[in-house]
Amino acid sequence: MKIFLDTANLDEIREGAALGVVDGVTTNPSLMAKEDGDYKEMLKEICDIVRGPVSAEVVADECEEMLRQGREFAKLSEYIVVKIPLIPEGIKAVKKLSSEEIKTNVTLCFSANQGLLAAKAGATYISPFVGRLDDAGNDGMQVVADLVEIYERYALPTRVLAASIRHPMHVLEAAKLGADVATMPYKILQQLFKHPLTDLGIEAFNRDWAKVMERRKANARR
Ligand code: E4P
Repeated sequence: MKIFLDTANLDEIREGAALGVVDGVTTNPSLMAKEDGDYKEMLKEICDIVRGPVSAEVVADECEEMLRQGREFAKLSEYIVVKIPLIPEGIKAVKKLSSEEIKTNVTLCFSANQGLLAAKAGATYISPFVGRLDDAGNDGMQVVADLVEIYERYALPTRVLAASIRHPMHVLEAAKLGADVATMPYKILQQLFKHPLTDLGIEAFNRDWAKVMERRKANARR
């Protein structure tokens, strides 16, 4: 499963990229609003850092305007994926952009039926929002499971990108279900590293190794 960072913060993206396990980035208007700077310049910089798929979201209600914004984004870098909301106008835009070989990520997906429509329009990625569904009292991961099953059954090439990830268990569940990608805030990527037994193990190894060094020094003095 590929790991994307769900952030527009350049420091987080640089740190994530330096780890060597980040395959791409997803942004949205709310994430961009948290950062200072020109949207397009920031997107170019993110693409240069990650050198993998970078989702840039259109903000429009109508297909024509989505197409205009999407084509502008696509000119910024070969890594740009145009992110489009799952509404009828958005699905029309996805169909058109996919015929122009522009990659798309259909966002704000809350049901498998919505995801089926996105795949039929030729979306490159579908983003089921797991956390927001859980927040609303639904089982967000079930939509991931349904999409993985449906796309597999009909050999649809759209990739399932588990989004709105809230905690490490979401990442684990998405991976077990066969999601193609999980996009997560940087904080969650850091949490994936964490295990108390790893920390205790390192402490013990360091302590024991210090004893070895002490013994060597003592032997050298004799
Ligand atoms: C995905 O592409 C979205 O940007 C994101 O995962 C939304 O997450 P949120 O529900 O935490 O805002």
